Amino acid sequence: MTTLITGASTGIGACFADAYARRKHNLVLVARSEDKLNALAKRLSEANGIDALVFAQDLSKPDSAEKVLAFCDEKKLDVDLLINNAGFGMMGEFLSHDLSRLEQMVTLNALTLMKLSRLFAERFARKRSGGIINVASTAAFQPVPQMAVYAATKAFALSFSEAIAFELKEKGVRVMALCPGGTDTPFFDNANYERSKLMIPLEKPEDVVRTCIEAYERGESVVVSGFMNKLMVNSSRFAPRSLVTAIAGSIFKK
Ligand SMILES: NC(=O)c1ccc[n+]([C@@H]2O[C@H](COP(=O)([O-])OP(=O)(O)OC[C@H]3O[C@@H](n4cnc5c(N)ncnc54)[C@H](OP(=O)(O)O)[C@@H]3O)[C@@H](O)[C@H]2O)c1
Repeated sequence: MTTLITGASTGIGACFADAYARRKHNLVLVARSEDKLNALAKRLSEANGIDALVFAQDLSKPDSAEKVLAFCDEKKLDVDLLINNAGFGMMGEFLSHDLSRLEQMVTLNALTLMKLSRLFAERFARKRSGGIINVASTAAFQPVPQMAVYAATKAFALSFSEAIAFELKEKGVRVMALCPGGTDTPFFDNANYERSKLMIPLEKPEDVVRTCIEAYERGESVVVSGFMNKLMVNSSRFAPRSLVTAIAGSIFKK
């Protein structure tokens, strides 16, 4: 089995790499930080007796998905599982954010995720096997003031994944969306948000990945990791949307 993981250099992606290496999957690790990816590939291949290849790529470029596919073809890799995990968030008011940075976020979190899903799903459908895990977020379930664009990209990832999970099932291809809540990774530092201000407990990335793999193996199309996150997502379904938006906004207020 060969698993391709985007955003594998840190956080949840690095934990996915660790978990699948232990399951003896060969790995293709993609992100920008080549040194971190090389160190991870070396450690995991030596510890688990697997092959781990590195492809350093900025996935916020619109043609990056095609480059990932071309790399796999050049290396004659037959990928079985694609994990679209790379992503970043930006905290703060919509009008305070630089437009080109927002564009990079939408490209990375939504466009590249869709394009990689499309390119690999076509191959998976041809061999009637293979699967895709798309990393969304609990932010996908409601608008989030102070994270407006990020939450919208995650709503895209969730809706898109559920729809293609339904379509591709009959072609022998599995698709699942993972929706983590706050998780203890460099995500908040990269989003310029002080962790000490967070009003929510953070999950360990290892726990998020374990929940995800168990749900994927059970054949689910969406999983929300963590009991409190599940409770929050489900209770918000019955409240007026304006109230849910206000509560979400209060979590990340200035
Ligand atoms: N942590 C949370 O609270 C949380 C909650 C819900 C959902 N999520 C989602 O979980 C996923 C993983 O996040 P994380 O928490 O593990 O954060 P993280 O530690 O910051 O990891 C993000 C990963 O994405 C990669 N990445 C960022 N920009 C990239 C680019 N332009 N091109 C290629 N790779 C890029 C990073 O690698 P390089 O910097 O080396 O490129 C890194 O490997 C993201 O999709 C995030 O939205 C996180």
